[in-house]
Amino acid sequence: MPPDLHSLDLFERPAQQPIAPGAVLLHGLALAAAPQLLADIAQVTTAAPLRHLVTPGGFRMSVAMSNCGALGWVSDERGYRYSATDPLTGQPWPPMPASFRALAADAASQAGFGAFEPDACLVNRYEPGARLTLHQDRDERDKRQPIVSVSLGLPAIFLFGGPKRNDRPQRLPLVHGDVVVWGGPSRLAYHGVLPLADGEHPLTGPYRFNLTFRRAG
Ligand code: SIN
Ligand code: FE2
Repeated sequence: MPPDLHSLDLFERPAQQPIAPGAVLLHGLALAAAPQLLADIAQVTTAAPLRHLVTPGGFRMSVAMSNCGALGWVSDERGYRYSATDPLTGQPWPPMPASFRALAADAASQAGFGAFEPDACLVNRYEPGARLTLHQDRDERDKRQPIVSVSLGLPAIFLFGGPKRNDRPQRLPLVHGDVVVWGGPSRLAYHGVLPLADGEHPLTGPYRFNLTFRRAG
């Protein structure tokens, strides 16, 4: 059997799957680091507990969130913003673990972006039924910096659209260890997550975790 066919047998998916100009899915990039990432998520969310934020429109978000790093993304009746302190505890967000920083930098560089030093990491926890409606990440100052998004635990369908909300989104299955990076011409692409299906993952039980790294300040 030719070697390329053989490796296709072993690894059905290419390592890097282009999604759109400036956007790529890096299959399994976080797989090796996943146990450490999950241990660090447990530390972070002990200091800054996961909570269901309220949207400016007054709706409770189905995804539970926390943050680490110098800045954390928060939402309440007053709007969306980055905050240096956790409104729940009044304390600074926990520092960004070394495992997080290393993976974010590796992913950005593999996706063709320069040195990436995120100052904000949003920790998202999805339970079955939880979803994220189509939105743009546009609360960050420097839009030349990419977004790095890491999937752990239960699988999900990621929606990746274009610059307009009504651009028909692609549906991308994301599994444990997958990393999506988007920037450049895709930086303001609409994206979201379909309602999580029921399931049980050996490392996360009935949850999907997502880490979203950004340069916010
Ligand atoms: C986000 O858009 O902040 C999260 C995306 C995801 O959970 O994959
Ligand atoms: Fe987002």
